[in-house]
Amino acid sequence: MSSENWKTAITKIEPGKIHVRGYNITDVMEKLSYAETVFLILKGELPSKAEAELMNAILVASIDHGATPPSVLGTRTVMSGGNSLNAAVAGGVLVIGDTHGGAIEQSAKIMQEWAEKDTDASTTASQLVDWLKENKRRMPGFGHRLHKIDPRTAKLFEIADKHGYSGKHIELCKALEKTLAEKTGRQLPINVDGAIAAVISDMGFDWRLGKGFFIISRVPGLIAHAYEEKTREKPMRKLGPLPFEYDGPDEREIE
Ligand SMILES: CC(C)(COP(=O)(O)OP(=O)(O)OC[C@H]1O[C@@H](n2cnc3c(N)ncnc32)[C@H](O)[C@@H]1OP(=O)(O)O)[C@@H](O)C(=O)NCCC(=O)NCCS
Repeated sequence: MSSENWKTAITKIEPGKIHVRGYNITDVMEKLSYAETVFLILKGELPSKAEAELMNAILVASIDHGATPPSVLGTRTVMSGGNSLNAAVAGGVLVIGDTHGGAIEQSAKIMQEWAEKDTDASTTASQLVDWLKENKRRMPGFGHRLHKIDPRTAKLFEIADKHGYSGKHIELCKALEKTLAEKTGRQLPINVDGAIAAVISDMGFDWRLGKGFFIISRVPGLIAHAYEEKTREKPMRKLGPLPFEYDGPDEREIE
């Protein structure tokens, strides 16, 4: 092999042979679940039993959240314009950004930086909330428009607890919920993005993979919406859940 070749450590392919992170794909097909294989390809190693169950729960948790999220509206709008399934799904994925699906990445970044501090979880949480207030920032992964308690958060932590799986990021995340309530006077529940951020951080994933977990989970939901739009709705229908009004300039002429 020439040293000038560019390198990849993900999958080795030779005629009749496929090895993902060193494991024969046929063994992976027989012995690993989809969630375990996602863990393997992103982390490079096999998950423990607890990590396998948690990864499965993470991938299921964000699969769909009804017809209103921006990515779903993106997918349906592209499909409604008369495009193909792949274009509609890509349109939805492109809508995912810092304020939709991005909280996992942002929350994991902050938790990974702050959990390095040499203080216990509640002291770190207290310093972090002060820092957020000083910088007029919100803590990503906390608060929800609809859910007072996000059922997906509770389930993820229940699975983690069942296995005694609790590292410094999960501890910091739970301490933050308490401290935010004390210091802001608001109940800001850990939302599913915050819980996922804490769990993947304890699993040792880099925060820069954060949006990836959301995308892997949400794509099947987007495919279902694209297909339903195509097979159930009129093309180019009026899309969008809310009425709106125009408040721009009155009609005018170019002089
Ligand atoms: C999700 C979210 C948009 C829901 O917001 P909401 O319930 O409509 O609440 P509002 O945006 O009206 O905020 C109400 C107050 O709570 C505060 N607040 C809301 N979420 C907060 C957070 N995560 N951290 C700190 N303060 C927060 C706001 O600053 C605001 O305070 P103010 O009235 O003094 O200005 C909001 O909680 C948020 O921005 N969370 C962080 C981003 C995030 O996790 N997104 C993923 C959602 S699944």
